[in-house]
Amino acid sequence: GPVHTADLVVFGGTGDLSMRKLLPALYHCDRDGRLSPETRVIAMSRGGLADADFRGKVDAEVRDSVPVDDPAVWQRFLGRLHHVSVDVGAANHPGWHHLAELLAPHEERDRVFYLASPPRTFGPFCRELAEAGLVTPRSRVVLEKPLGHDLPSAQRINDEVGAIFDERQIFRIDHYLGKETVQNLLVLRFANAFLEPIWNSLWIDHVQITAAETVGTPGRRGYYDHAGALRDMVQNHLLQLLTLTAMEPPARNDREAIRDEKVKVLQALRPIVGTEADRFTVRGQYVGAGDLPGYLDEPGSTPPTESSRRVETFTAIRAEIRNWRWAGVPFYLRTGKRMPYRRSEIVVQFKDVPHSIFPGGSPNRLVLRLQPEEGIELHLMAKEPGAGEVTLKPVPMALSFGKTFTARVPEAYERLLTDVLAGNPTLFMRRDEVEAAWRWIDPILDAWRATPALPEPYPAGTTGPAGAHELLGRSGRAWHEEEL
Ligand code: BG6
Repeated sequence: GPVHTADLVVFGGTGDLSMRKLLPALYHCDRDGRLSPETRVIAMSRGGLADADFRGKVDAEVRDSVPVDDPAVWQRFLGRLHHVSVDVGAANHPGWHHLAELLAPHEERDRVFYLASPPRTFGPFCRELAEAGLVTPRSRVVLEKPLGHDLPSAQRINDEVGAIFDERQIFRIDHYLGKETVQNLLVLRFANAFLEPIWNSLWIDHVQITAAETVGTPGRRGYYDHAGALRDMVQNHLLQLLTLTAMEPPARNDREAIRDEKVKVLQALRPIVGTEADRFTVRGQYVGAGDLPGYLDEPGSTPPTESSRRVETFTAIRAEIRNWRWAGVPFYLRTGKRMPYRRSEIVVQFKDVPHSIFPGGSPNRLVLRLQPEEGIELHLMAKEPGAGEVTLKPVPMALSFGKTFTARVPEAYERLLTDVLAGNPTLFMRRDEVEAAWRWIDPILDAWRATPALPEPYPAGTTGPAGAHELLGRSGRAWHEEEL
């Protein structure tokens, strides 16, 4: 459809997320003709930069990472950029006046206030925007993660933002929803007929959702000590993948129909309470190995404290969904820093054949890979060529998006920014969704706080602590590791 003109105001506009993800994504949107010629990007930060300084900074820091093939397009992009200095909690800061001057002549445009600043600033910035008279009916607000650190803090943020913006104006980001494979999961499930009859506990043994990272947390201790893998990855990204895998078919491809179904899955998660956490969850923390430092020795951070010793850099959980479709099918979730590979995937493990007439063989498995290389693989049993005895071998039927489609695979933020600018909230989290996720996470956090035990150590560069393997091993299962 036609692209609207919008003013996009980014708080935390010179921060890491903005420089590494948002500005590159906006450049690609511009290059691909998805930004109207008048759309402006106004970065807000404490640094007193003039527009020219900010454009120079973006030219120096972003240009090489995109990369630019047409210098004229790059200049056009730089020309959209502005900078306004403002500080949180300073209601009569001259920056508000400056922002009002920039926005006022274009009252009729869509306004997007993108809060890529720490969550404690969300409420104050929204209030100050309202006090400065900048919130119009055509305004939207985008909230970056983390959305709180537990249910009460998430509710507080939602209340504060909700006091200024209607729910339909609030866009809560989970960048995993912008990944191509994640959207493809919906197409795979609901634009193909063959999967639905077997997408249930009759045919599926279990599901594994993994987000493994090789990176550690250098320089991030201030944030990570109080987050940990459960809050940083599971509450949002992994639970989103779980809901999309498990949800019932929605009746329409629209914002409310899809989100309604996702909430129902979260509400059906069996709570993990008290000592159940010992059986159904695993915590790990990486320790130095070879050249890789341990969590407590990561450089560029303040010295470790008691919370550093207790924080999990790895977690594995056996989740259950208590509904007709999924009763008895474990959903194993796993994420960690400093694992041997960077890989995010959903593995649907089917049950074994009811009666085997061939020796060997292993059950079918559907792998949806989000990264590094987006693709879908169905692992089938096949006969190895040969005139002798029949030998079975698992072989993948593989779809690589990169090889099948010539179009470049866009970054998650390109999709999400395009949707925000168009006002489409389907891929953003609704208030009840975020809160339902915290309602399941909080008792696990409580249980972990109550135990004197520290997370299990695992050597940096390995697949996590022994407990993670026992979690599946107990029922004769194993994490999907090998590529076929
Ligand atoms: C972020 C987490 O939300 O997701 C980071 O805060 C993590 O700790 C990142 O590294 C992973 O995102 P991606 O897109 O690289 O899988």
